[in-house]
Amino acid sequence: MSLVKQNFASSCEEAINQQINTELQASQVYLSMAAWAGSSNVALPGFQKMWLESATEERTHAQWLIDYQNMRGGRVVLQTLYAPESDWKSAKNAVEAALQLEKDVNKSLLNMFKIAEENNDPQLADFISSKFLTEQVQAIKTLGDMVTQISRVGSDGLGLHLYDQSLLAGGSGAGNRNI
Ligand SMILES: [Fe+2]
Repeated sequence: MSLVKQNFASSCEEAINQQINTELQASQVYLSMAAWAGSSNVALPGFQKMWLESATEERTHAQWLIDYQNMRGGRVVLQTLYAPESDWKSAKNAVEAALQLEKDVNKSLLNMFKIAEENNDPQLADFISSKFLTEQVQAIKTLGDMVTQISRVGSDGLGLHLYDQSLLAGGSGAGNRNI
């Protein structure tokens, strides 16, 4: 029995471990997107940079949850990750997949929030809403904007090249906010 565990239900502990896996899986998917964008047949360094940053960010989210689990006296149990797609076909296809991924992550966070409330754990609910939920809806908006913008400039040719360069330069486009 943990020395620090207090008002911490086993279903909350399980939900946190599940969310750690979800964040690590998201990191794995972004790492795959970055690797794809960096291949010489694709050569989109702006998207590569953005997705590498996203992979690091998701890894950080997993670490927040690992630290939180330990703070509450739970046991961190890491799980298997599945192999992500390796050929993302087009930048637009990858961004659409990222949008769906972030919606799935958000659904998982909202489910964890519900479990916290059902178990009368306001501290866990506050941790989820303050550290994750706002950032999550911002990421979904950013990716939705990017799908529209890529549709506008075209998913190949000069338009996509310029869009990629703007991501690389870290300019004002929607894609330059962290996802
Ligand atoms: Fe995340």
